[in-house]
Amino acid sequence: MTSSRTACIVALAFLLTATPTLSYLVSDGATRRQSTSTSRRDGEEAQTYIVLVEPPAPIARGVEGDDDDAAHRRWHESFLPGGARIRHSYTGVLSGFAATLTGAELAAVSSRRGFVRAFPERTLTLATTRTPGFLGLSPDRGVWKDAGYGSGVVVGLLDTGVDASHPSFRDDGMPPPPPRWRGRSCTPPARCNNKLVGAASFVYDNTTVDEVGHGTHTAGTAAGRFVDGVSAFGLATGTASGVAPGAHLAMYKVCNGQGCFESDVLAGMDAALRDGVDVISISLGGPSLPFDKDPIAIGSFAAAAKGIAVVCAGGNSGPTPFTLSNEAPWVITVAAGSVDRSFRATVRLGDGEAFDGESLSQDSRFSSKAYPLYYSQHGSNYCDFFDGNITGAVVVCDTETPVPPTSSIDAVREAGGAGVVFVNEADFGYTIVLEKYYDLPMSQVTATDGAKIMGYASTPSSSSSTAAGHTATIVFNSSVVGVKPAPIVAAFSSRGPSAASPGVPKPDIMAPGLNILAAWPSQVPVDGNKNGGESYTFNVISGTSMATPHIAGVVALIKKIHPDWSPAMIRSAIMTTSTAVDNLGHVIMDEEHRNASYYSVGAGQVDPAKAIDPGLVYDLAAADYAAYICGLLGEVSLRTITGDSGATCSAAGSVAEAELNYPAIIVPFRAGMAAFVVNRTVTNVGPARSRYAVRVDAPGGTVVEVEPAELVFEEAMERKTFVVTVTVSGGGDGGAGGGGHVVAEGSLRWVSGDHVVRSPIVADSSVSPRSGQQQV
Ligand SMILES: *[C@@H]1O[C@H](CO)[C@@H](O)[C@H](O)[C@H]1NC(C)=O
Ligand SMILES: *[C@@H]1O[C@H](CO)[C@@H](O)[C@H](O)[C@H]1NC(C)=O
Ligand SMILES: *[C@@H]1O[C@H](CO)[C@@H](O)[C@H](O)[C@H]1NC(C)=O
Ligand SMILES: *[C@@H]1O[C@H](CO)[C@@H](O)[C@H](O)[C@H]1NC(C)=O
Ligand SMILES: *[C@@H]1O[C@H](CO)[C@@H](O)[C@H](O)[C@H]1NC(C)=O
Repeated sequence: MTSSRTACIVALAFLLTATPTLSYLVSDGATRRQSTSTSRRDGEEAQTYIVLVEPPAPIARGVEGDDDDAAHRRWHESFLPGGARIRHSYTGVLSGFAATLTGAELAAVSSRRGFVRAFPERTLTLATTRTPGFLGLSPDRGVWKDAGYGSGVVVGLLDTGVDASHPSFRDDGMPPPPPRWRGRSCTPPARCNNKLVGAASFVYDNTTVDEVGHGTHTAGTAAGRFVDGVSAFGLATGTASGVAPGAHLAMYKVCNGQGCFESDVLAGMDAALRDGVDVISISLGGPSLPFDKDPIAIGSFAAAAKGIAVVCAGGNSGPTPFTLSNEAPWVITVAAGSVDRSFRATVRLGDGEAFDGESLSQDSRFSSKAYPLYYSQHGSNYCDFFDGNITGAVVVCDTETPVPPTSSIDAVREAGGAGVVFVNEADFGYTIVLEKYYDLPMSQVTATDGAKIMGYASTPSSSSSTAAGHTATIVFNSSVVGVKPAPIVAAFSSRGPSAASPGVPKPDIMAPGLNILAAWPSQVPVDGNKNGGESYTFNVISGTSMATPHIAGVVALIKKIHPDWSPAMIRSAIMTTSTAVDNLGHVIMDEEHRNASYYSVGAGQVDPAKAIDPGLVYDLAAADYAAYICGLLGEVSLRTITGDSGATCSAAGSVAEAELNYPAIIVPFRAGMAAFVVNRTVTNVGPARSRYAVRVDAPGGTVVEVEPAELVFEEAMERKTFVVTVTVSGGGDGGAGGGGHVVAEGSLRWVSGDHVVRSPIVADSSVSPRSGQQQV
């Protein structure tokens, strides 16, 4: 099992419900992920449910304190028949509890007064020396200096635990956490200090040990300290740091090697809210669900309503459309892209042609002489068996998975191969996901380069496959920076549109998530080496999991400078200032080197220096989301998501998805459709007196009008509303001709002397015209 796609399929087989997963790619070393969410009791199947109930009568939601906690717990326990026990009691993210129940017990619980709803728990999966520099962050100046490196801000992560002894988490010279920090728990083996200000476990083993490595890596990426002389396996030596090295960290362990149970994730979120984190980073997720059935969406709503920004991985199920996770409009959904660094391993063929592959297994002792090139002429080239003598040969292996299977590498080494050329899975294009293996010299190449290498290797010759003078060698060049084009969207990064809400553009933003170097617990093997290989304190892994803490770090920097900004203002700042072009000045491309669509890259690549000073922002408050929920899902869902059993849609109002004041716009795209009208409101967070003019780059086949075309502000925080009218022009295909999914993209920019506030516009033939207003 080597991708979250397979992870989900396997989990489905176990559970018959989908399974939230850690959003990073794993090789077959870490695949034993079973669900223990079901068990048997009294001869009957029991399953863990998350049960939503009304708050106990005298206690309003959101009130904290130990007495109230005890009262809540007693109230929650009063729902349970004898025999069943509460696993978690929730008060912050929602009013309710988790418990393992048989069918009969569930029926008894649901008949109690105060019962609202119960969900069977899913199991979710877990969805940098170079990356701060690549994002334009440099020590002693610019945004890092302006934001005090994020000091005084607490970043909470829901993850696999943390190696608290790692040098990235030392606290020399760090101030204590802010007085409002209420996190008291520090569960062994973690010992807290002024950097790691909280560490709690919500999984069965009750420890904060990071047996997976994922949590140490994401925590280091978000807010690790500067560590000098870091390298991965001797490559890429430099100084490592997180995006907000001055911020405090709190780890909520909600996953282990088996995955992440939803009830535990919710318990971690509940604790994070009560402790007083400023940002929550969630590098895990499962397949899309309607928001009123998705505990992460429900919990995030409570967080956002309290002013806590929630940053989530978009998932690793790309490049297929409609594969996004965590798409609620009140969270920041993150896509993953490449970095301008290559761990270069060039394959040079006997005919002089050379192909730049990459490798984490670089052997400087490997002589660059010509080796016989082995490529089986008889069928399978997955390197599970060989039909010739490969001793001393460089072997070409094909793969059908995002990362080469360890078993193939083992087979080559055991059969005496000198090196291996691994050919990428075809639909991964230019995305090469690196894995560290045993010290077998190797190069991972793109499918296109692989096809040429295989073409050379199989040119007709005499009988034997290694004869005929076919030779190759691998030339290692450690790490090369300044690679172009970069960033490109990583193939695995999940794609929109959002299945749960297609009228809200998702993902929101892209950050580095391919081959990311960050902290690693030295006791966790990086290469599945069962013979006890070397231990490493840094490792290179990939996933939207790795992109997410980059954004959480940027949120921490913004929060430091603008402590009163709402999560929506922060997201708007990140989106409207992002860059749409790569380091060649070309529109950011996807894994096939096509112009990347909004559905893969979001608004663009995050630009931290600009994000702290966006000029204008598109704000949203809980009341705006309530009207949106009424428009999308109705009143029962409004009550479920807000936790307010007295909420009504007649009071909340009801707006279409397109009317949500989002910093990007999706419009339907049909020939002959009526004019589509949406309103947007911007808030001035730049100079008090400022003047912005609109610039429109209409999606092909549409005409976009903005009224008024100029916005004049006299004071700080002043709000101005404008109206956007989109018509499909005669010449545009507008998706009218065929049944295909037609998407055209453009943008709307508000431009002043010193700010550009860019909102992408996506015209999509699959979007219902009902998602907004129409003018005839
Ligand atoms: C973890 O803590 C819970 C609650 O205190 C307890 O019921 C459980 O037995 C503990 N698990 C282990 C492995 O110690
Ligand atoms: C395989 O090839 C190597 C190197 O050419 C040679 O030393 C070895 O004897 C061969 N083994 C077999 C089983 O033919
Ligand atoms: C290694 O990379 C650098 C930078 O791209 C290049 O100048 C140098 O020629 C390369 N060396 C080899 C042996 O390919
Ligand atoms: C890609 O984007 C550029 C810049 O907007 C544009 O000139 C070019 O035509 C686009 N290419 C395709 C294939 O759409
Ligand atoms: C959009 O803005 C116009 C002009 O300000 C206003 O008349 C209209 O009611 C607004 N529509 C909505 C749905 O808010």
